[in-house]
Amino acid sequence: MTRPAAAPVSIRFEHRTGTGPVIGLGTGSPRLSWQVPSAAENYHQVAYEIEIAGEVHTVQSAEQVLVPWPGTPLSSRQNAAVRVRVSDGVEWSDWSEPAVVEAGLLSPDDWTARFVSPRELGAHGRPAPIVSGSTTLPDGIVSARLFATAHGVYLPSLNGSRVGDEELAPGWTAYQYRLRYQSYDVTDLVRPGENTLDFLLGNGWYRGRLGFQNQQALYGDRLAVLAQLEVTTADGETHVFATDDTWTARESQILADDLYDGQRTDFTYPAADPTPVDVLHADLGLLVAPDGPPVRITDVLPAVEITTSPTGKTLVDFGQNLVGRVRLRVRGGNSGDEVVLRHAEVLENDELGVRPLRTAKATDTYVLAGPDEQTLESPLTFHGFRYAEVTGVGNLAKEDLEAVVLGSDLQRTGWFESSDDLLNRFHENVVWGMRGNFLDVPTDCPQRDERLGWTGDIQVFSPTASFLYDSAGFLTSWLADLAAEQHKDGSVPFVIPDVLRDAGPSTAAWGDAATVVPWVLYQRTGDRSLLVRQLPSMRAWVDRMTELAGEDLLWSGGFQFGDWLDPTAPPEDPFRAKVDPDVLATAHLARSAEIVGWAADLAGDAESARQYTELAAKVRAAFAAEYTTEGGRVLSDSTTAYAMALQWALLPTADQRKRAGQRLADLVRIAGFRISTGFVGTPLMTDALSDAGQPDLAYRLLLQTSCPSWLYAVTMGATTVWERYDSMLPDGSINPGEMTSFNHYALGAVADWMHRRVAGLAAGSPGYQHLAIHPLPAAQLTRAAAHHLTPYGEASVEWTRSDGRFHLVVTIPVGATATVQLPDGSAPLEVRHGKHEWTVADPHSDVPPLGSDATIRQLIDHEPSWQSIVSTAVEAGVANDEAQLAGRLEHYLDAPATKLVDLAGGNFSPAAEAVRERLDSLLTPQ
Ligand code: BGC
Repeated sequence: MTRPAAAPVSIRFEHRTGTGPVIGLGTGSPRLSWQVPSAAENYHQVAYEIEIAGEVHTVQSAEQVLVPWPGTPLSSRQNAAVRVRVSDGVEWSDWSEPAVVEAGLLSPDDWTARFVSPRELGAHGRPAPIVSGSTTLPDGIVSARLFATAHGVYLPSLNGSRVGDEELAPGWTAYQYRLRYQSYDVTDLVRPGENTLDFLLGNGWYRGRLGFQNQQALYGDRLAVLAQLEVTTADGETHVFATDDTWTARESQILADDLYDGQRTDFTYPAADPTPVDVLHADLGLLVAPDGPPVRITDVLPAVEITTSPTGKTLVDFGQNLVGRVRLRVRGGNSGDEVVLRHAEVLENDELGVRPLRTAKATDTYVLAGPDEQTLESPLTFHGFRYAEVTGVGNLAKEDLEAVVLGSDLQRTGWFESSDDLLNRFHENVVWGMRGNFLDVPTDCPQRDERLGWTGDIQVFSPTASFLYDSAGFLTSWLADLAAEQHKDGSVPFVIPDVLRDAGPSTAAWGDAATVVPWVLYQRTGDRSLLVRQLPSMRAWVDRMTELAGEDLLWSGGFQFGDWLDPTAPPEDPFRAKVDPDVLATAHLARSAEIVGWAADLAGDAESARQYTELAAKVRAAFAAEYTTEGGRVLSDSTTAYAMALQWALLPTADQRKRAGQRLADLVRIAGFRISTGFVGTPLMTDALSDAGQPDLAYRLLLQTSCPSWLYAVTMGATTVWERYDSMLPDGSINPGEMTSFNHYALGAVADWMHRRVAGLAAGSPGYQHLAIHPLPAAQLTRAAAHHLTPYGEASVEWTRSDGRFHLVVTIPVGATATVQLPDGSAPLEVRHGKHEWTVADPHSDVPPLGSDATIRQLIDHEPSWQSIVSTAVEAGVANDEAQLAGRLEHYLDAPATKLVDLAGGNFSPAAEAVRERLDSLLTPQ
């Protein structure tokens, strides 16, 4: 008999990804997930069996994602081989391959180690210390584990060999509440006899500079390490060697290290004798195991070009704006020669453009000891750069340089592609922006004196992030920090970990990370426990907003970032957006109250669910009464205001919604399809337009290449998403504003719409158990495709348009179902796992000509005609560009297109005749 389903694969414990045994898990009863790579057409899972260390547990259930651990919880250090098989009620599949899981140190009592810190060395501003200890081990070693963490960042080695491949461990958490420890399998590094452990300690986030207010040593002024080596021998004995007062410290040749400023290494610096350490009394109750992957080297890129700048500097281009450091091979120097590397994301006037780095020096220096060939790299720092300026090296060759890419080693799970190369490059830029800014904490930017976990940025980017990479473990950890650092009154710090330490941090869209990020993760991963865990934090934030809003439930006045970096705000005043901050704040209160209502319901708390749902309804009513008109206008009449009102159901009647959608569309038209939204409005715009029945206008925005737009940066050679649409101005100069990074993911949040609506691959229920496949074909694209490794397995959507036909191919993983909506207006189809294909008429096969009675609005919407008018007008000199011409027509959209020249103010110019003629030819029926 053939099996109904193939053996399960990809057995996962909690949100840990990667291959090989999972060690150091922070729980003894991890939830399990698996995927079934293929199954018979009518297969439905009705039961599963989990075998843990030979003991089989049978569970009647259709679930396969994050199912509860069925056995006795593992104790600290205990490991087990786990296998899974599934059944349709008739027949079992084969067993999966075994997956090995091992618990970490689950209780503070498991540690005999104590934090030790150099007594005489290692003060701030002094060389980075190395803390060492030696022990003698017997014969018959079977296995060995090293558990370690630090105040600062550490680089461990055992008997001279590097332990593991983690970078900048233990990473960055809210150290006052949570400090991660790492678990390493060091069986291959230990040996009978003498063994030595060395820990190089850097300032990292613990003691280095953090934030733009020149703060440092925010968590303490002493570097320290905690380490415990546990070696099991064949006789069953465990030999524990742990940090204590017998360890010693010495200076390394790293004379200075800082994440912002870089590292200085002097290979002539003399070695000195070991000195004593102090045992520190630190709370081991703060130790936690990692939830997600560590920071690693995720890529190594070759140098693309070496050039000489106008002032004679040697510049290296790595072809990609990235985060990491330069690896440089040198030879032939003299002792005492200095090699200096400065970094920047862009060039200005063909020189390194370092102004956007603000006070971050981003400079690595090496003092050479002699002519021998040597590879230089600075492991205690990282930079955001595409270019490096190198001094002190003669005959520099491309082959001598590499860029080492650093980031949290997340599993890639999402891809997008289309027939438009610029759009594909934009998507690639979004991916690179995430790679650089998911460096243990979701940061705003990776290069200047910030690199902070700005809440607003990840609030808007989390949907995109969770599609592109498995971000569940990474964000689970960050949300634990958020909850830990939330103020008693519910305020959410602007950045997590909170290094700004503002006394009363409450601002809409930023604080809403507390509600939105857990909700997004639940939608994308199906992790209900996470939602339940975050619920108190989510409620506290909504309670805080409600308190700030007061009795009328309108949150007005006070500090707001608002629609940050609205492109019409002046460079020096990113707060000055078109949307009224009060409108924005109350809209967020309604949205977050609603999310808390849903979350409480899922947590089984019916009373809170009722309470917050009612609060959301009341806030909506207050919003509608204060900020909207019966005709669907929203106060401040800006695109962001309409996008929020439409997407968050803030307009009570269908007629208001319809008219608000029309007004939004008109605002987009009169802006000449230039984007007009900041951090808040940007992720909503294309959804708002497409949901309002204007997908063509959403595409006009998306595919715009003039400034400001998403693709403008691509036409300027961008390889990451910029902080502002015009971080680099059309003339190649760097925007004079302080907020000018070239690697900020927030504005890339539109990629989520590209995945869900351009390609059409969306989660229809939590964890993609049901998929909503509803692509929006565009006249400008002949193909779009996305695929995503959902918790159930790979789902994909690809559509093509050719010869008047629209062809759709969809793959649904086993365990999931989908609703497919074809663009021919036919009824939605329900499908199960497997590959499905449809061909229907292409909705864009022929563009109907413009009618002779067309209005100006219809003319603008008719892209080929409008483009021809715009180019004629620009050529004739009656308008500078599309935006200017469209802006002049603001009040005449309903007027006949035949009147365009008179209405656009070109009446008296003889040059306008050309436009009039063009118009006549377009509007004359053929
Ligand atoms: C950061 C932003 C952040 C903002 C607050 C900036 O300095 O880079 O991305 O959200 O401050 O408005």
